[in-house]
Amino acid sequence: MEYDVIIIGSGPGGYTGAIRCAQLGLKTAIIEKYPALGGTCLNVGCIPSKALLDSSEHYYNAAHTFTQHGIKLDNLQVDLAQMISRKQDVVDQTTKGIAFLMKKNKIDTFYGLGSFVDAHTVKIAKTDGGEETIKGKNIVIATGSKPLSFPSMPVDKKRIITSTEALKLEQVPKHMIIIGAGVIGAELGSVYARLGGKVSFVEFFDSMIPTMDKTMGKELQKAIKKLGADFYFNHKVTQVENKGDEVVVSVDTPDGKQITLTGDYCLVSVGRRPYTDGLNLEAAGLKTDAKGKVEVDNNLRTSVPHIYALGDVIRGAMLAHKAEEEGTFIAETIAGQKPHIHYRLIPNVVYTWPEVAAVGYTEEEVKQQGIPYKTGSFPFKALGRARASMDIDGLVKVLAHKETDEILGVHIIGPRAADMIAEAVVAMEFRASAEDVSRMSHAHPTYTEAFKEACLAATDNRAINM
Ligand code: FAD
Ligand code: NAI
Repeated sequence: MEYDVIIIGSGPGGYTGAIRCAQLGLKTAIIEKYPALGGTCLNVGCIPSKALLDSSEHYYNAAHTFTQHGIKLDNLQVDLAQMISRKQDVVDQTTKGIAFLMKKNKIDTFYGLGSFVDAHTVKIAKTDGGEETIKGKNIVIATGSKPLSFPSMPVDKKRIITSTEALKLEQVPKHMIIIGAGVIGAELGSVYARLGGKVSFVEFFDSMIPTMDKTMGKELQKAIKKLGADFYFNHKVTQVENKGDEVVVSVDTPDGKQITLTGDYCLVSVGRRPYTDGLNLEAAGLKTDAKGKVEVDNNLRTSVPHIYALGDVIRGAMLAHKAEEEGTFIAETIAGQKPHIHYRLIPNVVYTWPEVAAVGYTEEEVKQQGIPYKTGSFPFKALGRARASMDIDGLVKVLAHKETDEILGVHIIGPRAADMIAEAVVAMEFRASAEDVSRMSHAHPTYTEAFKEACLAATDNRAINM
């Protein structure tokens, strides 16, 4: 069978690309090695983590804020098995939805490991032991990523675990030691801290979510500290050992001492690695770079022009919506269109509570690049809407160009920040100035007024409610 496009991997990048190819009239096949479509994001990433974040947030609010709202509950308990089972239902509904979309768009779906035979031929090693070979005029590598680990922290999937196991634990950890206070650590650490577990973060750098604007990391730490978490910043893990029912983590402190932390689980969340295992890239004349990524040009083409790659397996942010944009980009490029992705305007969200969301430059970046800038901030505690819901932690910070007033970056930590950042993306896509946003009517009372107020603050310090 010969296809216009074969896509290897059915994550957000692969399945979005497949649908866009089909919409453009291209005969398309998608190959997935697991029995469920949707990749990391739908099966063991974005969707299940958000399901557990939502459940744990309900529990936390019931236990800690309901009484202030005038709601009394007796005998509140965590039913972790039910939480995990609900999460799995959400995952199953979502992945079945993708299978439906493949059928609806007449995309041929193959289940099994895809590997290159040559630059136009892909072999599928099916789970039932069978084999099939298909040919493609164009091929898209959308094979995603896997959790990163190091020999000093050997993941055994029982006590020393990755995010995948942390999404299906059978008990709330008494003490979870989290290596890496990045986005997975922050999100899954929040889940178990809200359910009553103790969490300790050991982080190489000096803050949580260290690649985001420093203000966000500081504010997030304050919020997570309220859940009873401990932080070991500028600390380096040297060894992790499973000693039966406990895990012992040896750590070098900044002043050259060595300490040990003991817990019942250790979550290794130190990043993810691009995944090309079993793909036999060499047969297509391709190789990966030193970090294992498939190299692509500005059109997402590899060194073999009819083979493209996208998402976590190539350079750039490892985010579902980035992979989706790239899937669409490749489909439209193959169809002869001239698409464009504005990488700087891809938002970044951490689904803690308060949520953290950002787009554009951080303050550290504008400083480093010598861009003249000004800032405006507005705290949620000064907002009526936030006081009404008791979500007063956090702020909106706007960076604007000092001379032109163009918005350069927006950083939000606060209620519904994940949804609010969309307004900033739209404003920045249209190259709005801080004053443009500050002159637009924002419904009252809403959390979005904090964005308007921060823009007013950035425009001659004109915030109204502060
Ligand atoms: P993937 O989703 O990794 O999909 C790749 C697919 O290819 C997989 O299904 C894999 O089985 C398949 N595959 C690999 N090799 C082969 C082969 N040889 N043959 C056949 N199939 C193959 N991002 C967000 O934007 N928002 C979030 O909230 C978010 N939360 C996350 C939470 C967690 C816990 C994790 C781990 C990640 C999260 N991410 C989130 C990141 C997001 O999941 C990834 O950026 C996204 O899934 C990348 O999409 P992709 O299409 O590149 O690859
Ligand atoms: P991350 O890159 O966000 O964080 C890893 C952290 O581990 C960093 O802060 C790093 O300094 C630290 N670290 C690395 N080695 C260490 C060591 N030896 N000792 C102590 N600390 C160490 O990676 P994470 O959290 O594993 O997530 C992987 C990717 O998955 C993210 O980069 C993100 O792209 C994606 N993701 C996105 C989510 C979202 O969009 N909400 C949610 C979860 C994951």
